[in-house]
Amino acid sequence: MGKNKLAKFAKNKTFSHVLQPSNEAVLNGDFHLKGKWSEEFGNNNPIVLELACGKGEYSVGMAEIYPDKNFIGIDIKGARIFSGAKEVEDKGLKNVRFLRTKIDFINSFFAENEISEIWILFADPQLVKPRKRLTSQLFLNRYIKLLKPSGLLNLKSDSDELYAFTKNESVPAFNVENKKLQFEKLDDTNELYEKGIKSFDETMQAVLNIRTFYEQMWLEQGKKIKFLSYRLQAR
Ligand SMILES: C[S@@+](CC[C@H](N)C(=O)[O-])C[C@H]1O[C@@H](n2cnc3c(N)ncnc32)[C@H](O)[C@@H]1O
Repeated sequence: MGKNKLAKFAKNKTFSHVLQPSNEAVLNGDFHLKGKWSEEFGNNNPIVLELACGKGEYSVGMAEIYPDKNFIGIDIKGARIFSGAKEVEDKGLKNVRFLRTKIDFINSFFAENEISEIWILFADPQLVKPRKRLTSQLFLNRYIKLLKPSGLLNLKSDSDELYAFTKNESVPAFNVENKKLQFEKLDDTNELYEKGIKSFDETMQAVLNIRTFYEQMWLEQGKKIKFLSYRLQAR
């Protein structure tokens, strides 16, 4: 492993806003902050998750736009998390944490109704393994265990496959199978920057204008950005 990566891992250990759970906590489902994230942040503000956060551009960017919300970026790659964590330190942001773990174990970290909103940005479309997609029914069933009633699920993606899969397959299938809850579609576009979303106010436009590392790369290749937003509703 490169020296640079090792230095980032070492620095992550010194950041109080980077949480790196033990394997036991992950597997036993009893992470010490589960159900206690409000205590960790020192307030009862809404908690927003950025899944597969990479360098955490949305967690950092949204934390600046919404000082009255708390943000947790989750990714398995420590060197990527380091970039966001360093920015949080440099900017003195108090409303961001990073959690280094596999999203597959998300229910080990958050209790029922603990989360207000989930963002998934430029996740791997997992073309060969649909179950591993972060919007597969497997993952949707994990998210509903921690999302509050009326909680939001937002997806921004370059991938035609992930966009179509989410919109036409996994969410509709979830809605048919779940007798108590459904994901109601709020917004949908396959050309976010060309068509825009008329209902969005200035703040939401600013949020959607945050560019992640991968988004920048896809834009430079001329890809169109897709956006889907859902609200979890009781039936
Ligand atoms: C394509 S990158 C996107 C990163 C960032 N959102 C961006 O737009 O720049 C996908 C990220 O998802 C993370 N990832 C993929 N599957 C994961 C999983 N099951 N649990 C945690 N992280 C995962 C990878 O480590 C990687 O950083």
